[in-house]
Amino acid sequence: MRVTTTELFRHAYGKYAIGAYNINNLEQAVGLFRGNLGKREKNDEPVDPKTAAPFILQISRGARSYTDKRFLEAIIRTAEEVFPEAIFAVHLDHGTEDVCYDAIDSGLYTSVMIDASDRPFEENVAITRRVVERAHAKGIVVEAELGQLGGVEEDIAASVHLTDPDQAAEFVERTGCDSLAVAIGTSHGAYKFSGPQTVRLDVLAKIQKRLPPGYPLVMHGASSVPKEWVDRINAAGGQIKGSSGVPESDYLEAAKLGVCKINIDTDGRLVWCATYRESFRDKPEDFDPRTPGKVFMKAYASYIIHKNQVLGSAGQLESVRKFIKQQK
Ligand code: G3H
Ligand code: 13P
Ligand code: ZN
Repeated sequence: MRVTTTELFRHAYGKYAIGAYNINNLEQAVGLFRGNLGKREKNDEPVDPKTAAPFILQISRGARSYTDKRFLEAIIRTAEEVFPEAIFAVHLDHGTEDVCYDAIDSGLYTSVMIDASDRPFEENVAITRRVVERAHAKGIVVEAELGQLGGVEEDIAASVHLTDPDQAAEFVERTGCDSLAVAIGTSHGAYKFSGPQTVRLDVLAKIQKRLPPGYPLVMHGASSVPKEWVDRINAAGGQIKGSSGVPESDYLEAAKLGVCKINIDTDGRLVWCATYRESFRDKPEDFDPRTPGKVFMKAYASYIIHKNQVLGSAGQLESVRKFIKQQK
């Protein structure tokens, strides 16, 4: 069942966070749906209620243009038929205004992100407001961003880019956006913290205080960049040095402070890279694309199960189903 992120956030707010996972291809889609239903492999028992979780499947502009957006859209529509028990939102990640309109008109997306965070405040407000009007007219919800991720090598730079709590309150009120991505010290990719920096939960607490009660916040750049996966990649010929991520123990702390959506892309890429590298290393005579694909799908599903446990969304699927039914 496809739902909006807002429906998921109402259930999660203050208690746990929903995993928002980026995908680019078929194997990632299948591993993602299986993992969120608590299944590791094709023939696993139907839905494991202890681990099954609602989730957000997100698609970046790069993922849409990797082949043709219609391939990815068809994969998602098919996954919805193959996994009828799943409860998920389909979300556009870091959209521009034009791409948001395309996603809104596609009939597939239930949520879009307009990312005009690189524009001056007034322009960000105006663009976001336009997207909100177009999306809401079709029952689609909007995530916007204020502040800028990355560039947090030093405290001075960080204070320039982190989301300002007062501006956040004004931005939400003037744009009507349904959730807000905030810059709280994280950045995209595998190299988040070069020194003793951490996620700025103190800034998050201030933002939460300034916003209306129950207002959902989003953490981007939230991969934990697990050492185990980086070590496996490097042992199989990779060269990922000096990586660092968000400690998984921060997820629930952030959830208590209003973060309902936690964005994970890099970790999925690491699982992909490790399993494919190991497969080619360990079976040099094999050239069947399904060999690494099968290993990856199982490993990714297992990783999603783990991630949902640390986000607190594991085991929430049936409770969310009831909650959504009651709201209708
Ligand atoms: O926020 C960025 C995501 O990790 C998507 O990355 O644009 O390379 O698909 P991408
Ligand atoms: P990571 O690079 O930390 O996985 O962040 C992904 C993200 O924020 C997608 O919007
Ligand atoms: Zn992001």
